[in-house]
Amino acid sequence: MKILGIETSCDETAVSIIEATGDIMSPSFKILGDALYSQAKTHAKFGGVFPSLAKREHAKNLAPLLEKVLTDSGMNKNGKTEFDERKLKHILEREPGLFETLSQILNKFERPDIDAIAVTAGPGLEPALWVGINFARALGIAWNIPVLPSNHMEGHIASVLLSSQNKVNFPALALLISGGHTELVLIKNWLDYEVIGKTKDDAVGEAFDKVARILSLPYPGGPHISKLAEQARSESIIPKIKFPRPMLKTPDFDFSFSGLKTSVLYSAKKLEEISDQDKKEFALEFENAVTEVLVEKTRKALEEYSAKTLIIGGGVVANKFIRKSFEELVSKYSDTGLFLPELSHSTDNSLMIAVAGYLNWLSGKRGETIFEAKGNLSL
Ligand code: KG4
Ligand code: ZN
Repeated sequence: MKILGIETSCDETAVSIIEATGDIMSPSFKILGDALYSQAKTHAKFGGVFPSLAKREHAKNLAPLLEKVLTDSGMNKNGKTEFDERKLKHILEREPGLFETLSQILNKFERPDIDAIAVTAGPGLEPALWVGINFARALGIAWNIPVLPSNHMEGHIASVLLSSQNKVNFPALALLISGGHTELVLIKNWLDYEVIGKTKDDAVGEAFDKVARILSLPYPGGPHISKLAEQARSESIIPKIKFPRPMLKTPDFDFSFSGLKTSVLYSAKKLEEISDQDKKEFALEFENAVTEVLVEKTRKALEEYSAKTLIIGGGVVANKFIRKSFEELVSKYSDTGLFLPELSHSTDNSLMIAVAGYLNWLSGKRGETIFEAKGNLSL
């Protein structure tokens, strides 16, 4: 079946079309169209994501991105989709300009050969989520197809299924590391999740972003820290500073990163000026500290639950050092496979939302006509 995926939970507006085949144990996906607009530069001057601005940007970009994926996938057949104007206007009444841009597309193209729409319902910024949900509902009505609410974090887990014939063996363990979440999730089966550990304060990505800010690096800071740390390693720099490894030895599977961030802040404050050399050292020591904790907690969980597959998802898995460290960890376990999303599918995207939609479809879910944005939706 063909699924249109829509993602607007944070500062990425994304629309894509996938063709999904296979059963729940061996699903397979082909990308027919994928369009993404990152608002990161718009938010950079505020040092973080500004929800009302994100909402406005999503409303502006959704229809052009939809037109792009319809065109890229060859589904832009000239014609007209008949739709109930009053109904669509009503659904989109809180999304300025969206009715106009969407109706232009409906008036230009025939109804495409798409079977369902999957849209992020949470977690995320509620004003941002609502735009995507209302857009999806309006399209679902115009095209007369079901709309499946997807959980963004399930999407990050499902993103590994895009890569190849990744066959997940259960029980599986997922480490989710993004800007808003840090969780260890036991996956007994698809759609059967148990969060066994999570952060007590900052998420990993959030810590990367805050440390970047301390070092006067632009938002989002993860990639900048990662680049500096990589440089430091290639220059064989040994950090003179030492940062803590919070909760490394606690018997649970929880995390805490705010103390680590504070420790970076204090060390930075002690210096009159942070030189480029200092920045490299800080970035390296910070990345080492974070990675050590993530790897150790995950190792313990792998052993405790005898997990057969380890999945890592969320924007921070774009970090090359973290990827390499987990490859090294899993190489010690002959019975455990490691699935990482491709670099391009690591940060937020709508392909993973469509994949999560397919898993839900295969589990018997057939879409909902009315549902809400849930900022704190959990797995
Ligand atoms: O999953 P994601 O795109 O959005 C959320 O759902 O939060 O994750 C974004 C987070 C940001 O905090 C960003 O700094 C971090 O992922 N990130 C990285 C890297 N690339 C993105 N962190 C460390 N190293 C990277 N290379
Ligand atoms: Zn995300």
